[in-house]
Amino acid sequence: MRLSGKSAIVTGAGSGIGNATVRKFLEEGASVFATDIDASALEDLASECPGVETVAGDVSRLEDGEAIVRAATDKWGKLDILVNSAGITARNVGDQASLEERWDKVMAVNVKGSMLMANAAVGAMRESGGGAIVNLSSVMGFTGYPTTLEFSDGFNPYPSSKGAVSQLTRDMGVRLAGEGIRVNAVAPGFVHTSLTANVTQNPEILKTLNELHPAGRMGTAEEVANVIAFLASDEASFVNGAVWMVDGGYSAQ
Ligand SMILES: NC(=O)c1ccc[n+]([C@@H]2O[C@H](COP(=O)([O-])OP(=O)(O)OC[C@H]3O[C@@H](n4cnc5c(N)ncnc54)[C@H](O)[C@@H]3O)[C@@H](O)[C@H]2O)c1
Repeated sequence: MRLSGKSAIVTGAGSGIGNATVRKFLEEGASVFATDIDASALEDLASECPGVETVAGDVSRLEDGEAIVRAATDKWGKLDILVNSAGITARNVGDQASLEERWDKVMAVNVKGSMLMANAAVGAMRESGGGAIVNLSSVMGFTGYPTTLEFSDGFNPYPSSKGAVSQLTRDMGVRLAGEGIRVNAVAPGFVHTSLTANVTQNPEILKTLNELHPAGRMGTAEEVANVIAFLASDEASFVNGAVWMVDGGYSAQ
C-alpha cells in the first residue's frame, strides 16, 4: 500500500499503460481519477474497478485539463500525483493526414498535453504541500526510430515528441523542486498495448521488435506501471528530473 492516502489523476487511462497504472495505483491504496478522451473506455474501466472516479477530456485542450483537475480536487480536496500517459503516434492521426497535420497533432497531445495537465495540477499540488508528476517518454525520445519499422514517408514526429517530454520533465523537475513537487518520466521500450497492436499483428514485425530488446521480448503495460508507481511514491523522494528507462536493455546497446 505504497500510495495509501494519496490522490492521483491518470490520463490515457482508457487503455494500455494508463489503464495498468490505474489498476496498480488502486492496489497500492491510492484514490484515482481516471481520464481519457475515450469516454466508453472509461465506462469499461469503472465497471471493472469499483471505486475509481472517471472524467473524460482531451489533454491537448487547456480547459479540459483544468476541468479534470477541478473534478479531482472537488472530490478529494487535494491532489498528490499526476501521471501523463495519454499519448499518440502519427498512425493515430490517420493515413490521410498531411505531414503537417501529423506533426501538429502528435506534438499537441504528447508534449503540449503533458505540459497543460502539469500546469493545471501544480496549483492543487502546491496547496496539498507537494506532489509527484510522472510523464511518459520513450526509448524513441533517445534514439532514432528503427528504419525497419518506419510507417510512412516523411519525418516521424513521435521521437521528437518524446525527446521533448524528456526535456519537459527535466525542466519542470528543476523548476518545481523547491516546492516539494517531483517530476520524473519513464521511457519504455516497445510495449504491448493498442498503440503497438497494429504492427505487432504482423509476425515478422513482432519478431523484429522482440529482437530489438536484449530481453528478447517487448514489455507489458504492467511492467511500466510498476515503475510509475515507484516514481509516484514517497519511496522515490530523492528522484527528481529523471527519465527512467523501462526497456529490457534496449537503450543500453
Ligand atoms: N506502447 C508502447 O510501446 C510505448 C512505448 C513508449 C512510450 N509509450 C507511451 O506511453 C503512453 C501510453 O501509451 P499506450 O501504449 O498505453 O497507448 P494506448 O493507445 O494503449 O493508450 C493511450 C490512451 O491515450 C488516450 N488518448 C489519446 N489522445 C488523447 C487525448 N488527446 N486526451 C486524452 N486521452 C487521449 C487514448 O484514448 C488511449 O486510451 C503514451 O504516451 C505513449 O507514447 C508507449
